[in-house]
Amino acid sequence: MTTKDHAMTSTTRPQTDDAPQHVLTVDDLSEDDIEVVLDVARVLERAVDEGEPHAVLPESTMAMLFEKPSTRTRVSFETGMTHLGGHAVFLGPNDTHLDRGEPVSDTARVLSSYNDFVVARVFDHGALETMAEHASVPVINALSDAAHPCQALADLLSLRQAFGDLDDLSVTWVGDGNNVATSFAVAAATMGVDVTMATPEGYEPAADALDRAAERGPAPTVVHDPASAVEGADAVYTDVWISMGEEDEREEKLAAFEGFQLNADLLDHAPDAAAMHCLPAHRGEEITGEVLESDRSLAWQQAENRLHVQKALLAHLADATGSLLDG
Ligand code: CP
Ligand code: NVA
Repeated sequence: MTTKDHAMTSTTRPQTDDAPQHVLTVDDLSEDDIEVVLDVARVLERAVDEGEPHAVLPESTMAMLFEKPSTRTRVSFETGMTHLGGHAVFLGPNDTHLDRGEPVSDTARVLSSYNDFVVARVFDHGALETMAEHASVPVINALSDAAHPCQALADLLSLRQAFGDLDDLSVTWVGDGNNVATSFAVAAATMGVDVTMATPEGYEPAADALDRAAERGPAPTVVHDPASAVEGADAVYTDVWISMGEEDEREEKLAAFEGFQLNADLLDHAPDAAAMHCLPAHRGEEITGEVLESDRSLAWQQAENRLHVQKALLAHLADATGSLLDG
């Protein structure tokens, strides 16, 4: 019996033709997938607020393989799986044999034979691709060096809650063209949001990601002057300048990002814009405490929405959204 056969006869839920097999990047999600996730997330948010049970994945299990620290992603996935009636098994960097040389491919095969989902946070995006190749259950990217698709879903939900329709919006990214920026650019373009990205020279998002965004919607514009880039924006979004794994680049990046802080002076050029941050924030570096704590900050909503969109994504991948949308 192959691992796949084994998994199919044990715990794996059938996949529909509609849902993607894995979610490694936003590109794995069609516009329809994103619409379903956002709609279901809204239903799930209401269910939480009203204390309505919504255990649509009873006895499902999810392995969570994390090579890096996490507050929001870990807690929202674990909590979300409990709300859905299932169970999450958290595996930190020292909890498996990966560090002792067991291949990612073997790990993915074995986890697939126990679990309905594998959620992984990795340094190297290639490790996720290897997992997906060898897993017989959906693999979900919980952040890699290249992408953070779950964050992008929460960002879209936050924008929809704040502004209603997405397709007339314009959002400016200010800072590093990193994993969060890249996923946001592709997700936003897919939903018709105009994106301008103001980064220091040499810190633009990967060109192939920008090409993929342009294939799906309005092409993101990349510029290097934050003040003019935020003019007319509905929201201005930033993330840390030194991502996990980049600690050695700290001095070099702090110098390169001078003038790219999301602060009150910058927002003077966009007086009506909301401020976005995926968190964790470094107050005084990429954003000021004043902006983060202000009424225009969506950061706390973005963080809460991680719970709702990830639950919706799990339900969508398991083809279990019917009762939620009908109800
Ligand atoms: N935004 C985000 O992914 O936060 P964590 O690193 O705390 O999971
Ligand atoms: N770009 C940041 C995001 C943290 C949620 C990092 O990768 O560390």
